[in-house]
Parts: sequence; structure tokens; C-alpha cells
Amino acid sequence: MMTNEDQFQLATYKKMPIAAERGEGVWLYASNGDKYLDLYGGHAVAGTGHCHPHVVEAIREQAGELLFYSNLVYSGARARAAEKLVSIAPGALTKTFFCNSGTEANENAMRMARMATRREKIITFTGGFHGRTADAISATFLGKYREIGKPNVPGHLEAEFGNIESVRELADETVAAIMLEPIQSMAGVRMAEADFHRSLRTLCDERGIVLIYDEVQTGVGRTGEWFFAGSEAGGGVVPDIVTLAKALGSGVPVGACLVTDPIASHIKENDLGTTFGGGMLAMAAVTATLEAIENDRMLSNVKRVEAYLRRRLAEVEQVVAVHGLGFLLGIEFADKAEPIHRRLLDRKIITGTSSNPKVLRLLPPLCLREEHIDIFISATDER
Ligand SMILES: Cc1ncc(COP(=O)(O)O)c(C=O)c1O
Repeated sequence: MMTNEDQFQLATYKKMPIAAERGEGVWLYASNGDKYLDLYGGHAVAGTGHCHPHVVEAIREQAGELLFYSNLVYSGARARAAEKLVSIAPGALTKTFFCNSGTEANENAMRMARMATRREKIITFTGGFHGRTADAISATFLGKYREIGKPNVPGHLEAEFGNIESVRELADETVAAIMLEPIQSMAGVRMAEADFHRSLRTLCDERGIVLIYDEVQTGVGRTGEWFFAGSEAGGGVVPDIVTLAKALGSGVPVGACLVTDPIASHIKENDLGTTFGGGMLAMAAVTATLEAIENDRMLSNVKRVEAYLRRRLAEVEQVVAVHGLGFLLGIEFADKAEPIHRRLLDRKIITGTSSNPKVLRLLPPLCLREEHIDIFISATDER
């Protein structure tokens, strides 16, 4: 199986030697019978855990009724998903636009900001990752990504994350939007002070700039809150647009933009579109995902288990710092994280690396429990 995949698929990812067959909660089962503790959640996608029964049932049921029809017709599945998503969002975010991925959500968010302001430039931050399509990769000032996306879309400006002065210098009357990952995941799980978020909000209000939070990773419960937007860690700041993807459909591809009324007022028929966005199967997955998180009280679980993990990590000698929030955590080691990542994989635990060589990333399902942390700590602390 692995040989065939290597032969017939482009080698764009460095794969782990696992042939995934089945998943249940925090566990991933390989075709050779091995069982892995998944602390990476398939790239932060398995928020509800693998194959959450409520999500699987909803997808099965929807598949038997109607797989897809486009936005040219109304649909109960779409109405339910949009209403549910708006109901958990901070008050000012009142409308949704559905698409299929994180990069597409960010492209549409930037487009909406340009339409709303009639300006073109976008400020993003060193270390932020926003996707691989033309505009999103041009907004990505991290490692080699922008280079891969050449020729870049013009009008993208780079500011320093956490440094409001660097933003102020760039934020003139030609800037449509400031977009950020409120927790920079790939850069090694970097956070800014709550004050930075408050200052960004004030700056955007003063200068008529749209504030966009790319919550493709931080959204849908990952931080122990539904969204980083409106949270205490972000100083209660609510941006004008929030973008979502990854965990939103528990694995069924779906992306979304949540926007305020003032932004929505600038968007007219045909301004945005996508064939598959808002399709019934994805919409059923969205509603069931949000319900599963609510029914199983996963947000409070994230907070409790994060606190336990931090306590246990304090016992591990090689750990020098723990970055991030909830279940988006970067464990910084005194030395390179890659050998630890490999050793954990040998012990059947999946974790992630980051662009900071000393930081190991955890993006586990929101249903992870203390007993799983114990397994992780004893494998990490082996000397
Ligand atoms: C913060 C962030 N934004 C955008 C994206 C792009 O999402 P997608 O791969 O669904 O296009 C990612 C993907 O890793 C991400 O982490």
C-alpha cells in the first residue's frame, strides 16, 4: 500500500510510516494492527476525535437524503449549520459564508475587506501562515512559502507579530485589512499580549481597516473557547471577520467566514462564490461537529486537561517552556524537538513539529483525557 502511494502520488509531504485504517476518539489504528495515540489530530482536523458517533451518524443520514445541491437552492442542512455557527460566535459576527478550506476562507476574507474599504493592501505578520493559494500564500511571511507562491499578489505588507508600532507604520489609508493568526501555530505556537489585540482593534477602528482573525486552527473549541475572538486571552477583541476550516467539519472538507453586519452590507450577489461551499454533506458535518463539542462538554474538558498537561510537563526536565492555549500547544525543549518527535512515534504517539526546531506541537482531539496525558508524559520523560 505504502509503495503504491509513493509510486502514484506526488511526494509533496514527508509521511510518517503509518497506513491509517480506522479511528476512534484519540486513537488512530493502522492496517498492521498498531494503535497510535493521536496528539496531532490529523493536522488539527479531528477536533471531535476520530469518527465521533454523532458526526458519523449525521453524515450517514445526510448522505442517504441529499449529498449536494449548490447555493442556488435553500437547504435545511445549510440553514441549521449557519444558524448554529452564528449562535456560538461573538455577538457582532452575524453572517456566514461557506467554502471548502482554510486558504479559500482567507482569500474570501481578504476580498471582502477590499470590497468593504475600496482599498487593496493587506498587512499580515512575520511567522503567520494563511494557506497556499495565490493571495493567501502572498500573505504568508513564514519560511519558504511566499517564495513557492511567486509571482506574489502585490500589496502584501509584513509587520512584526506583537509589535503594534510596526503595524502603525504600515497602516495608512491604502490598507484594506490586517489579518493574523491570533496564535501563530506553525511558527512554533507564538502568542501576543492581550494588549496587542486591543491596540490592533483600536488602530483598525481609527483608520477604517478591517480586522481579520485567521482562526483556521484556533477556532471551533481548540483554545477551550469556541473562538479566540472575544476571548480573555485576546483582550475580548472581536474582529470584523473570522475565518474557519480544519476542525469545523470533523474531517469533511469545509471552510467558513464569519462576518459582521457592516462587512456583510458591502457584499452583493455574485461577489463571492464556490460550487461546493455550503453543500449538504459538509453542512450536516458542521452542525453535528458543533453539537458534539457542546454535548460532550469538550470546551471545559480542554481547559481541565490543558491545566493537567501543564502540571505534568513541569516535571519533565528537558521542557523549558509551554506555549499556546488549550489544545494548541507548543512544547519547547532545551534541544531539538525532532528526536523526541521520532521517539514518540516509535512509542506509537503522533505529535507535530513546527518551524521552530525546538518546539513540538500538540493539536489533539478536544476529547483527550488525563489518562492519555500520562501515556504521553511517560514516553516523553524517558531518559
Ligand atoms: C492558520 C492557518 N490558516 C490557513 C490554513 C490553510 O488551510 P487549508 O490547508 O485548509 O487551505 C492553515 C493550514 O494549515 C492554517 O493553519
